[in-house]
Amino acid sequence: MSKKLIIANWKMSPSTYAKAETLFLATLAAARKLSRVETVVCPPFPWLTDISHKYKKSISFGAQDVFWEEGGAYTGEVSPTMLKGSGVKYVIIGHSERRLYLQETDEMINKKMLAALRAGLVPILCVGEWTRKGRPWKWIKNFVRKQLAEDLRGIAKIAGGSQKIVVAYEPVWAISTFGGGPDKPEDSLKIIKFIKGILDSRFQIPDSKVIYGGSVNAKNAVDFLKYPDVEGALVGGASLRAGEFGKILSEANLINAKPSL
Ligand code: PGA
Repeated sequence: MSKKLIIANWKMSPSTYAKAETLFLATLAAARKLSRVETVVCPPFPWLTDISHKYKKSISFGAQDVFWEEGGAYTGEVSPTMLKGSGVKYVIIGHSERRLYLQETDEMINKKMLAALRAGLVPILCVGEWTRKGRPWKWIKNFVRKQLAEDLRGIAKIAGGSQKIVVAYEPVWAISTFGGGPDKPEDSLKIIKFIKGILDSRFQIPDSKVIYGGSVNAKNAVDFLKYPDVEGALVGGASLRAGEFGKILSEANLINAKPSL
């Protein structure tokens, strides 16, 4: 079984470098013991570059965003090549908080996806519906299908054929800060299988992983990760608590040692 991918999305925390380094070292200590999990740490930009330079190759690093141009007059932006040169392997693209607070559109997200792939980064594309209340499954599937179609447009044309991507299914209402609580694992499994089907049939991406995100914690991680089709988790709030995140990592490692369901 391939390694489960467990991603720590620190968002705009911790507030100081000292706190970030402490959290990183505790996370690293937990991650190092495990052979069946790939741990990815995604700190905010200032801590990301400091930590990734200092602790090169100890763990996988991810950025929380990237711009689609390679250089030029784009105040405030960071290019894919800059990230790659800083030892970053992954980049989160299209997180719902950016779609909501920064008005990122699918067109912008698509440009970021293409630029990240061209630079050799592995994009973690976030998709998911805003609500499920009163909506039939058909509506939810159409919503996710449309996001994938727009966000992944043209990726098959990228030279090299090494389009490794991660898709995080994050129902927006299930993200802890939006307060809805986690999805039912069997419901997210249904959409994750649906996403996998689209990636295989429509985009023919040779190397993709589909993971779940939304209020994952030490108590419920196993309920999602026990399914082989759920290839990992994107963890926000709980990744800021090193002890709890360490438990999620060891659960993922244990599950991967068991025979498939
Ligand atoms: P959460 O965040 O785990 O706090 O729900 C997940 C995310 O926003 O990526």
